[in-house]
Amino acid sequence: MKIAITGAAGLFGHGLATAFSTRHQVIPLTHGSADITNARLFEAAMQEIHPDLIVHSAAIPDLDICEADPDRAFLVNYQGTCNVANAANRIGAGLVHISTDAVFDGKKQSPYVETDPTAPITVYGRSKLQAEQAANSVERHWIIRVSVLFGPGKTNFVDKGLRKIAAGEDYKVASDQMGNATLTTDAGLKIMEVVEAGRCGLYHVANQGTCSRLELARAAAELAGLNPAKVIGVPDAQMHRKAPRLKYSVLEMAALKTGGFSLPRPWQEALAEYVHTIKL
Ligand SMILES: NC(=O)c1ccc[n+]([C@@H]2O[C@H](COP(=O)([O-])OP(=O)(O)OC[C@H]3O[C@@H](n4cnc5c(N)ncnc54)[C@H](OP(=O)(O)O)[C@@H]3O)[C@@H](O)[C@H]2O)c1
Repeated sequence: MKIAITGAAGLFGHGLATAFSTRHQVIPLTHGSADITNARLFEAAMQEIHPDLIVHSAAIPDLDICEADPDRAFLVNYQGTCNVANAANRIGAGLVHISTDAVFDGKKQSPYVETDPTAPITVYGRSKLQAEQAANSVERHWIIRVSVLFGPGKTNFVDKGLRKIAAGEDYKVASDQMGNATLTTDAGLKIMEVVEAGRCGLYHVANQGTCSRLELARAAAELAGLNPAKVIGVPDAQMHRKAPRLKYSVLEMAALKTGGFSLPRPWQEALAEYVHTIKL
């Protein structure tokens, strides 16, 4: 297949491009080469490339930036997705839309399944939920919700912490945020498998197991041979951030299970593989 990937210079875009290019022709699209907020130019680019599938990863994923500037958040995350979906419809391409655990309210005490009611508590979450609805307009669509991502290609929660600790600094992280941790390339390979099976729909995709941000950062420090006590857990409320964080946003991969797909490996294995590639 010929596959165009939006946001390909981003963290997940890099992982998606790495995964899909193992078996398909990937056309990476960046903010500079294909701005998703420019409907006309984006559609013209798609008419020219004519991909069989658009994997849409471009977004503003920073919760605090979105909270501070809702107009920009909705322009890129929602209107941008409308433009991508419209272009997919015009050229008859399928669409993989990358979404987020932030569509939930974080108040549940057990893992969220795909059919759980959504109730985003942030601008980011609301813009991404509306984007899911836009993606629904494409006949062959996959909506993929992921949670905390780490991986090569761009600074992320894990390597940022390791670099701080290696420089002798403390790494302050929320102690009361429970979720999934996922290697971008593992998620990318699972998404490719689901797409190749032709089974459209809504999927949660993550490495298996749950962890808090504190556990994740400490596990990474230990794997890197650094002092895990340099990771300092702080309640989210004391971090004075613009957007509230979800206390609990574990994603249950019910759709993968019922679809007969295997689940990605445990997060600890994926983290070990990733940490050993980081040069500090
Ligand atoms: N990172 C996570 O833990 C996480 C968790 C859940 C869901 N997600 C979802 O995963 C997807 C990718 O996130 P990420 O972490 O990879 O973010 P990222 O590293 O910031 O990548 C997003 C990319 O989108 C590009 N972009 C922004 N505005 C654009 C525009 N108007 N037109 C075209 N491209 C534009 C950015 O380019 P510039 O930087 O040049 O603007 C960037 O390369 C998003 O849909 C996000 O909601 C991420």
